[in-house]
Amino acid sequence: MKFPYTDIVLEHFRHPRNVGKIENPDGKATEGSPACGDMVSVYIKVDPKTNTIADVKFESYGCASNIATGSIITELAKGKTLDEAKNITWKEASEALGGLPKIKAHCSVLAVEGLRSAIQNYEERHGLVKEKKPTTVEVVRQRLRKVIYPLTGLNVVRTNLVQDIKVKDGTVRVLVDLPRDHQFAHNIKDEILEKIEPLWDVKEVVVEFTE
Ligand code: FES
Repeated sequence: MKFPYTDIVLEHFRHPRNVGKIENPDGKATEGSPACGDMVSVYIKVDPKTNTIADVKFESYGCASNIATGSIITELAKGKTLDEAKNITWKEASEALGGLPKIKAHCSVLAVEGLRSAIQNYEERHGLVKEKKPTTVEVVRQRLRKVIYPLTGLNVVRTNLVQDIKVKDGTVRVLVDLPRDHQFAHNIKDEILEKIEPLWDVKEVVVEFTE
């Protein structure tokens, strides 16, 4: 059987660059893949004078392709302006790796989305969002589609774990159908806060549990 990975992929998988966490990052994001339930976190430090990525690191909870793509996109992104880094595509990442098997395209998409979301997180936290759309229930629901329930690997909206969303006067309330002492309750709450709090017009996020 022919091994499906190129030498570049294998090299990045064995010796991934920029692995780890940045303490007090300027922007960060965790993205989950609906295709496989894997996750990637990306952390960035930004030089505000030049608007460039001064440092970037990633943690992967995914497969070899995910690790290799995380490694290559952090290399591609370092030193780039935020706009340039946002425009790195999964195709470019995959080409820089000498190609990925088709069935593994979603792994590179995940890493690239992680980088874009970390940049978006930076922009939201620093009031740099150009298009200021008001936060609605639908906006919240879209964001929660990125929160993966670890037991099923599916997002919390699709699995109906999110029972209710209310948005009023800058307060967002999310009702989660789990007991508050459930093993993943804490983790899900943190992820919901992380996704919703940076929205420009949100003042408070309240996560409630059904029991
Ligand atoms: Fe899940 Fe690759 S199979 S990220």
